[in-house]
Amino acid sequence: MTQKLRTQVGIVGSGPAGLLLAHLLQRAGIDSIVIDPRTREDIEGTVKAGILESPAVEVLVETGVSTRERVEPMKHDGVEFHFDGQAHRFDFPKLTGKSVYLFPQHEVLKDQIAARIRDGVSPLFGYTAEKVVDGPNGPMIVGKNDTGEAFEIEADFVVGADGSASITREYVTGSKTSGFFREYPFGWYGILVEAPPSSEELIYSRSDDGFVLISTRDEHIQRMYFQCDPNMDVNSVSDEQIWDKLQAGVTSELKRGNIFRKDVLKFRSYVHNSLRKNRVLLAGDAAHTVPPTGAKGLNLAVSDVLWANRALREFYRTGSEHLLDSYQEDAYKRIWKAAHYSYMMTTMLHLAPEASEFDKQRQIAELYMYTQSEAGQKFIAEGYVGWEYGADDWR
Ligand code: DHB
Repeated sequence: MTQKLRTQVGIVGSGPAGLLLAHLLQRAGIDSIVIDPRTREDIEGTVKAGILESPAVEVLVETGVSTRERVEPMKHDGVEFHFDGQAHRFDFPKLTGKSVYLFPQHEVLKDQIAARIRDGVSPLFGYTAEKVVDGPNGPMIVGKNDTGEAFEIEADFVVGADGSASITREYVTGSKTSGFFREYPFGWYGILVEAPPSSEELIYSRSDDGFVLISTRDEHIQRMYFQCDPNMDVNSVSDEQIWDKLQAGVTSELKRGNIFRKDVLKFRSYVHNSLRKNRVLLAGDAAHTVPPTGAKGLNLAVSDVLWANRALREFYRTGSEHLLDSYQEDAYKRIWKAAHYSYMMTTMLHLAPEASEFDKQRQIAELYMYTQSEAGQKFIAEGYVGWEYGADDWR
């Protein structure tokens, strides 16, 4: 027997994008069903990165997903760039009047899932979407749940918020990979370590040994990365070598401890070439991927969702499709800004394997241009704390 469901907006993916969209739509009286192949424990238990820009925090707090008390202790008023043997601080409130919040994605997800359950509309966990098709009355999500039972969700609209391996993309363009793509000749070797924080603020470091990032999760767990070959075997370095690589990038002494997770992250920039077909939209990582430097991914997902929310609310209020028609153009503005910012932060701070002496000297000069003048500092800080969202009618 096939389980048949009907809703106004079918949302593929219970990540930050899908859950936020469901929440905002509900506030406007629009029903949705969110599905995800993973279990709730899986989604909440996978430790992920995340820096939230001030505007993203406003959306989460003011619409009742997270509380101000929960978010405020994670506020960061600056970051440091270390290069050429010196530390340079960006003072965000001074430069932009704003801050960022080191609020990891899995913590955001915990709040988002709790809010869906509190509001009586839990995501359907264990539901794997296989494809999106045209049904007799609108698009349909078809797939199987974790007991092997087939399901069909018929909707007025489907939103693919199903991440970088999105199946919804295939409906939109007939291909999972028809977009604009860039690879990088390096990745990050990341560790989670049981230790107190080594620095009050994040450190982004460029040296002739490559890039290092010192970040944190809480008082007891720290997250650190060093630049590596993207195809490197995660077990090919000893803990001692890991600490040497990390320490090479920073001017202060790192606090060491038990390394309990190691992973290699590959870098890519990707923008899907179409974000809508008929009544199917793409949002979040299904629409784009950015390299992690600068932590733009989660914030960009929020931007897409605000545009989608605005277009869908307008449709249900007035019947007009004009904001649906401009969804791609509207969302693309910030997508390409974030694509550039992530690319710029990545190429400015990493050492390409083939970098010449010219390239290295030029890169250091570029870093001085962004740190020595107030205009340069402002440019970096404005991108880091986040540009204002275009669609501001989310309340
Ligand atoms: C983290 C990740 C990033 O990509 C970044 O720019 C800053 C911090 C992190 O994992 O904490």
